[in-house]
Amino acid sequence: MPGDKSISHRALLFNALAGGRARVRGLLDSEDVAATQAAVRALGARITADGDAIWVEREGPLVTDVGRVDCGNSGTTMRLLAGALAGQGVRAVLDGDASLRRRPMDRVAAPLRQMGADVALTNGRFAPMTLVSGVTTPIRYDSPIASAQVKSCVLLAGLRCGASVREPSLSRDHTERLLERMGATLRRDERGWIELSAGATLHAVDVDVPRDISAAAFWLVAATITPGSRVLLPGVGVNPTRTGVLDALRAMGAQIAHENERVEAGEPVADLTVTAHALRGAHLGGDLALRALDELPVLAVAAACAHGETVISDASELRVKESDRIGRVVAGLRAIGVQVEERADGMVIQGSAGRPLGGAGVALVDASGDHRIAMAFAVAALAGAQVELLGSESISSSYPAFARHLESLCQG
Ligand code: S3P
Repeated sequence: MPGDKSISHRALLFNALAGGRARVRGLLDSEDVAATQAAVRALGARITADGDAIWVEREGPLVTDVGRVDCGNSGTTMRLLAGALAGQGVRAVLDGDASLRRRPMDRVAAPLRQMGADVALTNGRFAPMTLVSGVTTPIRYDSPIASAQVKSCVLLAGLRCGASVREPSLSRDHTERLLERMGATLRRDERGWIELSAGATLHAVDVDVPRDISAAAFWLVAATITPGSRVLLPGVGVNPTRTGVLDALRAMGAQIAHENERVEAGEPVADLTVTAHALRGAHLGGDLALRALDELPVLAVAAACAHGETVISDASELRVKESDRIGRVVAGLRAIGVQVEERADGMVIQGSAGRPLGGAGVALVDASGDHRIAMAFAVAALAGAQVELLGSESISSSYPAFARHLESLCQG
């Protein structure tokens, strides 16, 4: 199982900001994380391999102008870097691939500008994003969207001058956990505000990266819908802000055992065992949808195999991910013969009640630019659909070994 993508980005970037030397074990080896590695090198950090670990070290000062940084397909790289660099007054031009250039960057430019930074966007909303000058004043930012990338951007920008941030619902909290381990003081109040005091000095810390629950999600669904399966997924990160996929699958009747829970590097980790089981439809909305956001494409595939109807709601953020994930999932499900209604904030899926999926012949599914769409529809093929994936190379942004793991799990 690959390392957690969110924690891999943070382990690299925060240690590079802290300076000193830290060992990171279990880092995700993928294109998105390679983009963050290149960025932290440009900032003056050194990254060296040491067996299955890497060292991140920085002795000298941060580079003050890093020039153009290619964030590839990775929104986390771009939005977290924007905050980190603006917080330290580092100049940069943050750019990415065609998919990343279509994603909204005004959501991070707005709070950075309120903090006094000079940030220029392309056509008012998009990358390339030019950081002309850094932040000067603290902020109290009541974010209109629940987004860990926005929250992290604001907190990183506030490392010197301070920042408070609140979001409509709690998004993944890996940033808060790692900043606290590195010595920052965060105060949380009962109204949801997170306050970071000015002048936080971070110290480098070693990180053991848990296995990524967002990658585990594909095997949780694959094993559930394939009769006779039983799959053990060891060492998976089970941070409660990320376990919506477990709650959703259990609400649908899945059999997932959760054992040996422990805390590694400030993050809860457990061994998960999943056994094939019939599914029933469910309502996946509200806080659950946020806690399962990246897993909704593969949960939609699970829903397509279930008995009854599944409603996915409160997930309009899916429209601004690596692709419009609502549009792509609906199109893909229709191509494999599933009855689905598209809604602005989700979809309604009529399950096949365990009957094999598959429309007439080979279904063409366009996953270009979106790794999670590609992997979700590869899993759909296990339920009988014949799928030709367009753009499956996008899988290497988060899970380069996916096809190999799928083949090895399918043997026999
Ligand atoms: C991430 C936050 C989420 C998630 C993305 C990773 C992170 O994005 O979808 O894959 O590591 O902070 P948003 O913050 O835009 O919801």
